[in-house]
Amino acid sequence: MTDAGAPFPDGFVWGAATAAYQIEGAAQEDGRGISIWDTFSRTPGKVINGDTGDVACDHYHRYPDDVALMRELNLGAYRFSIAWPRIQPTGRTAGSERGLAFYDRLVDTLLEAGIEPWATLYHWDLPQPLEDDGGWPARDTGDAFATYADLVSRRLGDRVKHWITLNEPWCSAFLGYHLGIHAPGKTDLREALQASHGLLRAHGLAVPAIRANCPDGQVGITLNLTPAYPVDPEREGDRAAAHRFDGYFNRWFLDPIAGRDYPADMVEHYGEDAPTVLPGDRDAIAAPLDFLGVNYYAPAFLAEGGGDGPLGFRQQDPPGERTAMDWLVWPDGLHDLLRRLGRDYGGTFGPFYVTENGAAYDDPAPEGDRVPDPDRIRYLAGHLDACQRAIAGGVDLRGYFAWSLLDNYEWAFGYTKRFGIVHTDYETQRRTPKDSARWYARVAAANRVLPPE
Ligand code: FCB
Repeated sequence: MTDAGAPFPDGFVWGAATAAYQIEGAAQEDGRGISIWDTFSRTPGKVINGDTGDVACDHYHRYPDDVALMRELNLGAYRFSIAWPRIQPTGRTAGSERGLAFYDRLVDTLLEAGIEPWATLYHWDLPQPLEDDGGWPARDTGDAFATYADLVSRRLGDRVKHWITLNEPWCSAFLGYHLGIHAPGKTDLREALQASHGLLRAHGLAVPAIRANCPDGQVGITLNLTPAYPVDPEREGDRAAAHRFDGYFNRWFLDPIAGRDYPADMVEHYGEDAPTVLPGDRDAIAAPLDFLGVNYYAPAFLAEGGGDGPLGFRQQDPPGERTAMDWLVWPDGLHDLLRRLGRDYGGTFGPFYVTENGAAYDDPAPEGDRVPDPDRIRYLAGHLDACQRAIAGGVDLRGYFAWSLLDNYEWAFGYTKRFGIVHTDYETQRRTPKDSARWYARVAAANRVLPPE
């Protein structure tokens, strides 16, 4: 594109996002307990190169410099996650003073820099002892999460005004307990479904705890939502496959949070594997929210039959540009997703925020203080343009967080995939803003999409 886009609405939030295990390092410091990712990353064959988050970006020690960098990049908000095992090393103990003090320092430093802290309570690092006692499928884990949410919001609620309970419960449940790709690495659909319910219930129990400690705060949840398209819209079977995928991925989480119960077609499809829902769960999960966080990376195109396990569909994406994750670059997916959310769930959740969007590319090493990453700029510009179009179409979208501030530990891919707008040299821990970071800083300042340099 050669022209600047239309301005975003006044007050639009420009941010960047990270997660504790992916950047903090300092895994053994200040009494931090062991999480399921410490265990999983040490399990042979689970993570490329056996990489762990032990050191990661060493953000635990370098946060003052990282916050200074955010400020240079004109970020108005920073979405980070809190490591549960720093706060409660076993998941059940009283709050650890040293753990809480780290987030005090981080939050104070952000506020001094004029950057709004957006805290995610759970971005996948469950204390290992809770997993040993049954993990997310066990109801006790949900009760423990509510206690943890209370502890953290009691401490930070005077300064943190934006709270996200869970990041992407689909991933925690299905990648973690069914597909075995993420911690804890289980492969049981029934357990995954029970985990999804445990996570949603945990979310629902946490919401009132946060509200009690932070009455003037905004509370939401972040879902990874994937628009599903039939490969051939004329084929009934492909349309049904897309609807099933939508049920599996999107409606399974959106509907209960919106107070509509689990989607009946999916409950029927899962049959005996469907989760056990006890009296009171439905209302707990439907706790009113102030916003919905939307993470979007790529769409899915579905065809009838074959393929992926018990769901009876096959993903068959069209040819097109792909990122280093092999994910299709499809900005219209974000537009369609936001329009659909506005249409089907608009009054229910309040405003929407894109809490993650971005791309991994095989960036060149820094030359001096530059890292040219034109593909990432195009990716971000295309998706911001999609946001702009959704807003013009009437969707109440109030902010956007680029994933990620820094190159970091990309879960099962270890350090091999770089999502940062800032390059991390893992040997020296030197940070180098990529061209995309400089571009994004200008976009944030101008409150509109700008052409690359
Ligand atoms: C999301 C995760 C985030 C990061 C990106 C690439 O699913 O929330 O931690 O790994 O994908």
